[in-house]
Amino acid sequence: MKKPEELNITRHRGNITRSKREALNQHKGAVLWFTGLSGSGKSTLAHALEDKLYEMGCRTMVLDGDNVRHGLCGDLGFSDEDRKENIRRISEVANLFMEAGMIILTAFISPFLSDREKAKELIGEEDFFEIYCDCPLETCEDRDVKGLYKKAKQGEIKNFTGISSPYEPPVNPHLTLKSGARPLQECVDELISFLQAKEIIR
Ligand SMILES: Nc1ncnc2c1ncn2[C@@H]1O[C@H](COP(=O)(O)OP(=O)(O)OP(=O)(O)O)[C@@H](O)[C@H]1O
Ligand SMILES: [Mg+2]
Repeated sequence: MKKPEELNITRHRGNITRSKREALNQHKGAVLWFTGLSGSGKSTLAHALEDKLYEMGCRTMVLDGDNVRHGLCGDLGFSDEDRKENIRRISEVANLFMEAGMIILTAFISPFLSDREKAKELIGEEDFFEIYCDCPLETCEDRDVKGLYKKAKQGEIKNFTGISSPYEPPVNPHLTLKSGARPLQECVDELISFLQAKEIIR
């Protein structure tokens, strides 16, 4: 594939910088990348945190697995290659929102270390925070929120993370939430404290 420069594509730089947008928003832009097994609580946590941040006057956006697969990534399946492309597109979108000074909460299983590494590279180490929803597989199977574990075990779904496809846990996540055992509200409080400690919000 040709590079943008080879196609005579040059960036146009605007006057309204990220820091100006952040000053207007009164908080910093950041990407909180929730990762964990299906049913570990990524969507629940991301949306509960968003509710709280909204109350606090923060500008946020949740990018959620099933939702982006309806539109932006509607042409992708679940092969390793398609999962990679899914993560690449999401990272680019998260990066754009982050540049707009918003707090982005992504809720994708994102099972592969290498893909999360790539997301971190693309977004930038200082703005990317890996949040591990650490919930035992048995709890996720018991919850079976979408009935997918049952289907996967019956062989109706191929490449299902935790059953027929691996999940590679984060090695050094910025935050680990014991979302299998701790009540939701405690996890949300921990996330708020984390954002304050990182001086993303006040
Ligand atoms: N501390 C907690 N944090 C998050 N969810 C919790 C917690 N305790 C219990 N739950 C419950 O666990 C379930 C988590 O489901 P959720 O859809 O959020 O998972 P998910 O990680 O987004 O899965 P998927 O990858 O399939 O979208 C919900 O029913 C939620 O109410
Ligand atoms: Mg979800």
